[in-house]
Amino acid sequence: MNYGPLIYFGVVTSLVASWIGFVAVPRQTVGKLHPDVSTNAASAVVSYPSARSGEAAQGRDVYQSLGCSACHTMQVRPASGGSDIARGWGKRRTVARDYLQDPAPLLGSSRLGPDLANYGERLGTNSFALIRLYNPRLVAAGSICAPVPFLFETRPIRGGVPSAEALPLKGSAAPEAGSEVIPSLRARQLAAFLASLSTSVDLPEAPLPVAEETASK
Ligand code: HEC
Repeated sequence: MNYGPLIYFGVVTSLVASWIGFVAVPRQTVGKLHPDVSTNAASAVVSYPSARSGEAAQGRDVYQSLGCSACHTMQVRPASGGSDIARGWGKRRTVARDYLQDPAPLLGSSRLGPDLANYGERLGTNSFALIRLYNPRLVAAGSICAPVPFLFETRPIRGGVPSAEALPLKGSAAPEAGSEVIPSLRARQLAAFLASLSTSVDLPEAPLPVAEETASK
């Protein structure tokens, strides 16, 4: 028997099926997503997600280039699929729309460290973020988070006046007398990116949980 047409039909069917599965269906489901436009409590029209500021957008490239995604995800699972929300990593699960403004969503695949999808919401001050980048063990004892001291410059204090940008390092972490630790542009960009991480916006497909007091009324 001549199997040629059958093999040909099989090859074409599998190519068409994979095109439908990998191109047509995703395009249909998420390809037409656009930012959600709504009115906030102050009656201002807001669009979510909005583009990150220039500094934060550059920081995303720094985050990507340093391989932070090897240990950190940016995707909050629904309450039914894990304990992410109970752990305080987000108020709601993340959805495709959250990543619209990022050229390459940095989802990450393994979690040696906490999920960072909403890190900007729990981050304290900017200098805290910079100290954490310089040496995570200064803020979390025994941390295995990757330090990036090469994004900082230890230099002699110029003109006898410490720079306003110098890290407020104390005790054994402080540089030797007469020196100061200054964040580079890339360190500041990375800190700006971390501060911009937030997804706590009400979306039709992923509403924020209603606050308990309001719900019980
Ligand atoms: C070897 C795995 C690993 C790598 C690589 C790594 N981290 Fe971490 N990170 C951790 C762990 C574990 C923690 C939790 C301990 C702590 O708080 O330091 C953490 C914590 C953090 C936190 C605090 C999260 C919170 O919820 O308080 C931030 C921010 C962070 N990392 C940023 C980064 C950045 C930016 C990079 C890339 C330069 C990076 N991490 C690379 C493992 C890693």
